[in-house]
Amino acid sequence: MPLRHLLTTDDLSLDEIDLILKRAAEFLTPTGLVHKSLDTLAGKRFVLAFYEASTRTRLSFESAIERMGASCVLFTEAGSSVEKGESLDETIRTIEAMGFDAMILRHAINGTHSHIAGWTSMSVINAGEGTMAHPTQALLDASTIRERFDRVEGVKVVIIGDLLHSRVARSTASVLSRLGADVGWCAPESLAPVGEISRLRRFDDARHAMQWADVVFLLRIQRERIVSDHVPDIDEYRRQYAVTSSLAADHSSVVIMHPGPVNIGVELDEALLNVPQCLVHRQVTHGVAVRMAVLELICR
Ligand code: CP
Repeated sequence: MPLRHLLTTDDLSLDEIDLILKRAAEFLTPTGLVHKSLDTLAGKRFVLAFYEASTRTRLSFESAIERMGASCVLFTEAGSSVEKGESLDETIRTIEAMGFDAMILRHAINGTHSHIAGWTSMSVINAGEGTMAHPTQALLDASTIRERFDRVEGVKVVIIGDLLHSRVARSTASVLSRLGADVGWCAPESLAPVGEISRLRRFDDARHAMQWADVVFLLRIQRERIVSDHVPDIDEYRRQYAVTSSLAADHSSVVIMHPGPVNIGVELDEALLNVPQCLVHRQVTHGVAVRMAVLELICR
């Protein structure tokens, strides 16, 4: 049966994930993206509904849509009738009445995406949901690892940082584990994950993680989602969990990834963004390719 929505990575079978990764690879060159535009989605109309800030996800979806010959418009909460008190459901019904095929939705409240998918005629593609899910981020991370190592199976990945509040950690750990990667984690107690990830291999600090890993996948501390006293002292945090220039130099074969945006000087030293072992910007490029493949799978 064709996939109508993409709400979590669990919506995708392993065959569909494989299909997306292989198709995305066709859109990539060793240093960027293939130049040729396609008409695969010509005539399709997309709306990007972003109730939270975004640079990478929003622009890469826009770019993917444009590269596939479709059209899109952007809705952001700021400046909309939400500021006059319009409800979420009424806003979505209003957007739906304008005749879009699919909505690419980012929202801070867990459960929003499945709630809307339950009644709307549009396909709903999750572009980030609270602390729950970020499926296309997980796919682009898998795609980046697959390119670097020629496989995902058996690659050792440690996710370091604020796993408690991270939708990326949930989605990426799930996809990488399903693809056979060996996934571990490293975080202060106050930012430790709950649920399935917590049962994976744990590391005390970034140094021990780098001694074991092929990939360290850094996360930022998500101050916007922290409601109590979870924020650790930044200097203390850096000493134990940051990938510094000297630590990276000691483990130069370990690949560094980060979904962005990076808190420069907290979890990662600025100079490392431009070293060959760091794939942060390559991840962004994979984001366009993977989103092209996802849109093709769901909306063709
Ligand atoms: N990785 C990610 O979701 O980045 P943005 O918030 O910039 O979209």
